Amino acid sequence: MYVMVFLISFFGIFGAQPPTTATTSAQPTISTAVDTKDSFSIFTTSLSSTDQKNPLALNEHLKFPPRQKTSLMKSVGSYRPSCEVVNQARVLLLGPVSSGKSSFISSVQSVFNGNVTNRAMVGSSTTSFTKKLQSFNIRGQKGEDPTRLTLCDVMGLGDAEMTGLTLHDILSVIKGHVPEGHKFSPDQPVRSETVGYVKKPTLKDRIHCVAFVVDASKILTYSKGLRTTFQQLREHISDLGVHQVALLTHVDQICPETAKDVTQVYNSWIIQETMDRAGALLGMSTSYIVPVKNYSSELDLDVNTDVLLLSAVDHILQYADLYYQDNTPQCTGTMTYKDIDI
Ligand SMILES: *[C@@H]1O[C@H](CO)[C@@H](O)[C@H](O)[C@H]1NC(C)=O
Ligand SMILES: *[C@@H]1O[C@H](CO)[C@@H](O)[C@H](O)[C@H]1NC(C)=O
Repeated sequence: MYVMVFLISFFGIFGAQPPTTATTSAQPTISTAVDTKDSFSIFTTSLSSTDQKNPLALNEHLKFPPRQKTSLMKSVGSYRPSCEVVNQARVLLLGPVSSGKSSFISSVQSVFNGNVTNRAMVGSSTTSFTKKLQSFNIRGQKGEDPTRLTLCDVMGLGDAEMTGLTLHDILSVIKGHVPEGHKFSPDQPVRSETVGYVKKPTLKDRIHCVAFVVDASKILTYSKGLRTTFQQLREHISDLGVHQVALLTHVDQICPETAKDVTQVYNSWIIQETMDRAGALLGMSTSYIVPVKNYSSELDLDVNTDVLLLSAVDHILQYADLYYQDNTPQCTGTMTYKDIDI
């Protein structure tokens, strides 16, 4: 175990993918040819978490300068699912209690409102605040139509089956059986007798992409049980053909430079290392993980935080579109709907 942790830290610091996550990588392998002298200088000369002189191998999608806010806003605002029977991309946020699911929803809504809005009720108590299935259609900018993005919030994941949302209930949500507002309870699993149960869900009832949410400031304290939960979930969700990405929240809490200036997220090796750890926790290549920060503790919007949030949404929508491509027969309506859930 210690050897594993050490290996992950070691590979993390040197920018390479930990062995456990390398197989799922969809991106070309990043060069790891970092001069040893340079690498060690991190420990000896630099206490700063951002260091542009050290050519540490950052993720491809973090390395390039981000797109402009206006272009991202336009692409997310005018997004249409590439599937005619689906009006809304339904995205499920899944993560431990207080990982930042609700504040991500509020923050994305804030970007479109142009002011800081508390859309989803944000809870910070240690027990899960959201116990119901709640879907939020993100409203558009003033005077524009609502976006075609719906973010779905459910109660937090626990370390074990009975302390949080069960695997069975999560899969029921993803398959589209669970009615809006359903109150989850570990001892009352979703069944065909459940009030409002959707017996024959269609493509538009289903979840089209899952975004795992993990808190950067808690990565080191997450339990082994949670890791098992994630890996089980990933396996079952993949079996349903649903693509998964991840949001790394609260990046401002682990990197003081990023807290002061969000653009530093692209240079911070602490954040890069935490991304690697999140990848190991989720069993996911870091190319699927994007860093975000919330708006709930601020009064004014900041263009760079907007870019970070919009980039995350844009990233999610790309994977939702992959789902539509995979389900093309159902999308074009040339095939009658078959319930895969017999
Ligand atoms: C924030 O924006 C929303 C939507 O544009 C508006 O309804 C609300 O009144 C605004 N709130 C403040 C405090 O400006
Ligand atoms: C928002 O982010 C800040 C800084 O990372 C954190 O302290 C705060 O708890 C977050 N708020 C919520 C509601 O998650």
